[in-house]
Amino acid sequence: MPDPDIPEIKRASLADDLLEALETPVLILDGNGALLRLNRAGEALTGYTLDEVTGRPIWEFLIADDEIETVRRQFLGCRAGNGPVNNTHFWIARDGRKRLMRCRHTAHRTDAGETGYVLVIATDITDQRVTEEKLTKSRSFLQSIIDASPVAVITINQEGIILSFSRQAEVTFGGKAEDVIGRNINILMPEPDRSRHDGYLGRYLETGEARIIGQARSLNAMRLNGEIFPAVLHVSEFQNGENIFVGFIEDVTDQRAAERQLSETQAQLHHTGRLGAMGEMATTIAHELNQPLTAASSLMGAAQLTLEKNTDERSARAIDLLEDSVSEIRRASDIIRQMRDFVRKRKTAPSLYDINQVVTEASTIALIGAEAEGISVTKNLQPDLPISMIDRIQIQQVVTNLIRNAIDAMTASAERHLTIATGYRDGMIEITVEDTGPGIDGAILPKLFEPFLTTKETGMGIGLSISKSIVDAHQGKLSAINKNTRGCIFTVSLPAGTRNGLSSQ
Ligand SMILES: Nc1ncnc2c1ncn2[C@@H]1O[C@H](COP(=O)(O)OP(=O)(O)O)[C@@H](O)[C@H]1O
Ligand SMILES: [Mg+2]
Repeated sequence: MPDPDIPEIKRASLADDLLEALETPVLILDGNGALLRLNRAGEALTGYTLDEVTGRPIWEFLIADDEIETVRRQFLGCRAGNGPVNNTHFWIARDGRKRLMRCRHTAHRTDAGETGYVLVIATDITDQRVTEEKLTKSRSFLQSIIDASPVAVITINQEGIILSFSRQAEVTFGGKAEDVIGRNINILMPEPDRSRHDGYLGRYLETGEARIIGQARSLNAMRLNGEIFPAVLHVSEFQNGENIFVGFIEDVTDQRAAERQLSETQAQLHHTGRLGAMGEMATTIAHELNQPLTAASSLMGAAQLTLEKNTDERSARAIDLLEDSVSEIRRASDIIRQMRDFVRKRKTAPSLYDINQVVTEASTIALIGAEAEGISVTKNLQPDLPISMIDRIQIQQVVTNLIRNAIDAMTASAERHLTIATGYRDGMIEITVEDTGPGIDGAILPKLFEPFLTTKETGMGIGLSISKSIVDAHQGKLSAINKNTRGCIFTVSLPAGTRNGLSSQ
């Protein structure tokens, strides 16, 4: 209804003034899409003047070729009375530049019900779209970096609520991002941190005193299934309206296990080495002492018999003393035997092993300090060796002994080169340790594997004898030869096994 206070003529010019004052491009089209009116903002944006384009359908000059169909269909839909139509499409300006426009079409009818005109109010969203695209791009760029990170990346807000959870975080903690986002980060911590974490955050926000930000810290983390694992955590902070914390979490379970295994192996080697040495020594001592002890006890028996012929009190006393002596001697023999049995009784634990790995582990330990002594090392480990049924610790002890001997032998040599190799020959796996020392002394060569034979001032002379008994127990062979040039080669041969056990020997 016309407003009674504003005369008709004024209404027309008011609408006109409004249209021209608008910063937004406005088009008025007739029922066929021909242009009736273009306001000043429309002229500025398209580069056309009203006079130039009046009466021309907009798809002839304003709409990009590939969008004409769609825009026309929407225009017709609007004209048919389907209500206002919003769409987004490009306008091609007079100079050929494209602008992305969001347009709202409204059809206005005459009193007779025909389409009088269609009003198009257009908003230029080109710049907005570019910014959005840039933002999406840089977001997905950042996301792809985060997702490529080999450590878990988690962001939380200052209440400890999880905001993002990287792909590696999903792997490390065993859960989907959508299941943890929005929950408190403390679900990924075991006690006592779990109950204290909110307090840690609160204290930091209050005092600004950083206890963990900016430094790597080793701690325990917890997977969603409750499994606790060792981790290294690094936290950074940034501002995004509020405090955001980014945590980088590395699962160091495997690392820790490897470290532990190395030190266990070291300790075990040390222990078996000593036990083996004691065993050999006890055997020899038992053997050496057995004879004199047996002789002593039979001599005492004879003395007793002799004394029994006398009936005086002193002889009776001497017989008692001799009896006590015999039982003391028996006790001594028993102690020696028990000691020998005890050290001998370490249960062997044969299992199928990759010899290359066993050799690598043993040499890592045996070669500690070798470089400092000017020794260079070559390792020729033949790949794809068959596995072997061995007691890993014992074979490592053998390899360690051979390497240590080789290092000892080269202390006075000008050339100090050690070669550790593995190979496969005639159904046997071979480990060889070769040095450039003086070679084995001709005088000891025939008795090389006998115990207590040494040419070293501080040597015990039991390394090779223990090694030989270990290799023998494996149905293998330990041998040594002097090279023609200088140095010698020790070879350990061990039967090759299959996954089902030992192969035919
Ligand atoms: N690689 C080697 N080169 C030269 N001699 C060696 C080598 N390995 C062992 N021997 C000789 O064998 C001896 C016995 O070795 P071993 O049983 O290990 O006892 P130890 O090392 O305590 O002397 C050594 O003292 C040394 O004379
Ligand atoms: Mg030795």
